[in-house]
Amino acid sequence: MLAILVAVAVVLLFGFIWNKTRSRLTHIPGPSGIPIAGNALEITSCFKLISKLHEWMEKYGEIFKINIFGDEILVVSGALIGEMLVTKGSDFAGRPKIPTWEKVFKNEVHLVLRDYDPKLRFIRKLVHKGLRQYGEGMDKIEAITVTEIGKCLDKIDKLDGADFDPFTYIHHSISQVMNTLVTGEAVPDGHPMLNKAIDWDKLDGEIGQDPAFFLPAMEKMSFLFGEGKIKDYTDVMEFFIEHWRSYEATYDKENMRGLYDVIYKAYLESETDEEGVKISYNNVKYLMFELYGAGIITTHKAIYAFVHMMVTHPGIQKRIQAQIDDVIGSQRNPTTADKRKVPLLEATIHETLRYISHVPFALPHETKRETSLGGFAIPNKTQVWPFISGNHYNPKYFKDPLSFNPDRFLEHDGSVSHASSRRMLTPFGAGPRNCVGEVFARTRLFLFTASLLQRFRLLQPNEGKLDVLDPKREDYFTKLPNICPNFKIRAIHR
Ligand code: HEM
Repeated sequence: MLAILVAVAVVLLFGFIWNKTRSRLTHIPGPSGIPIAGNALEITSCFKLISKLHEWMEKYGEIFKINIFGDEILVVSGALIGEMLVTKGSDFAGRPKIPTWEKVFKNEVHLVLRDYDPKLRFIRKLVHKGLRQYGEGMDKIEAITVTEIGKCLDKIDKLDGADFDPFTYIHHSISQVMNTLVTGEAVPDGHPMLNKAIDWDKLDGEIGQDPAFFLPAMEKMSFLFGEGKIKDYTDVMEFFIEHWRSYEATYDKENMRGLYDVIYKAYLESETDEEGVKISYNNVKYLMFELYGAGIITTHKAIYAFVHMMVTHPGIQKRIQAQIDDVIGSQRNPTTADKRKVPLLEATIHETLRYISHVPFALPHETKRETSLGGFAIPNKTQVWPFISGNHYNPKYFKDPLSFNPDRFLEHDGSVSHASSRRMLTPFGAGPRNCVGEVFARTRLFLFTASLLQRFRLLQPNEGKLDVLDPKREDYFTKLPNICPNFKIRAIHR
């Protein structure tokens, strides 16, 4: 017995010394955790992770560190997010290596999780160029989006006010816009791509529940969820890639159809930028998939939550509809030019993104050189998370953060508050690694929600009344990005 106790004491002591001697951030506060595992056992689910980050932020302040099996991560909130992402953006623009994702993407990540290197900068430029070919004001995207939304609303109309779950309707519509962005055309109704996108979204959520997917040190525990999911994930990915590759046969450089053509052309013509890098064929294939994923999952979850909010906040729904009736009426489709004229809807979209904070700590960043933050010295290659939802739920920045109140983003004259007074609202990140799809996403969010509320009154279902969505409840945090549990509503033609 004594021998066991001594052995345990030695292991603990060794673990304690190991953690201490490995630490490069001893000057930064943070929860002490246990020897060897550090804080790993406190954050074994998505819910626990986010709740703990909030708790630790309150205790240690706007910069603290956590420790996962000896790997330290810095968690940053408040004004320090601006210092990190913008003022010192290039110092913090790296991404840590996440072995599990590298495995999924065949040893090279291409965009979202790629480090900040010359190729990443070139790829980001190409993607922006691809998006721009739809016109600065995204006119073509607007036309496509409106057509797809129209088809989706017609299907909802056919339900004749019966209870339904809007999940799939929204998903198909968002996927179709994304399909058009990539290849220049939507797929026919009922095409397997549409349900595959849902399968893959679910898989992404299941995989994303496992901390190994964003915490490199947790990879050692990957056996807990098995390799099967990764195989399913790569199968779905290959399915999409094969579909896009079929467009190569009809590629014509005089007639660019979508993003795939833009990136494929850069590969075929060995285009380079001033940093002299070229992209590979693997980059073409996989980055398209990364982009497709980033574009669908986040936007779908935002619109799904918006619908929930409208049903549980009928007063706000009515006020938005009154503005829509006033400036758009019922005879024409909403356009992006209407955005400013329906300020309450824009404010409600801001408030939805704040309230749901479904990308709670953006994506992991890593320092590219020795730097500093909030006066603390930060070594090169430190993993740093901008804790966006830490700000979004902080009463210091948003009064009564757990009440859903779009009016907080309106001025006294009813116009949307100026961007400078929304500095703490950063659902798309900021700086050199900001979301490349922000404008595209905002366009779709506005057009979808405006069209939906123009045509329908969204009501509680006949069975199973919805409660106000509580973004602090465990069932909201089952996945990353976070999503509200499935629900049903009724949509009555106005
Ligand atoms: C409501 C919708 C969306 C939200 C809330 C959102 C949010 C974010 C956030 C927080 C990041 C990480 C920023 C960081 O690392 O600091 C990000 C990155 C990214 N997003 Fe979005 N996003 C949305 C829609 C989209 C769309 C529609 C696209 C594509 C068309 C897209 C493409 C990307 C890409 C490619 C990145 C990685 C950029 C990089 O690593 O350099 N996103 N997004």
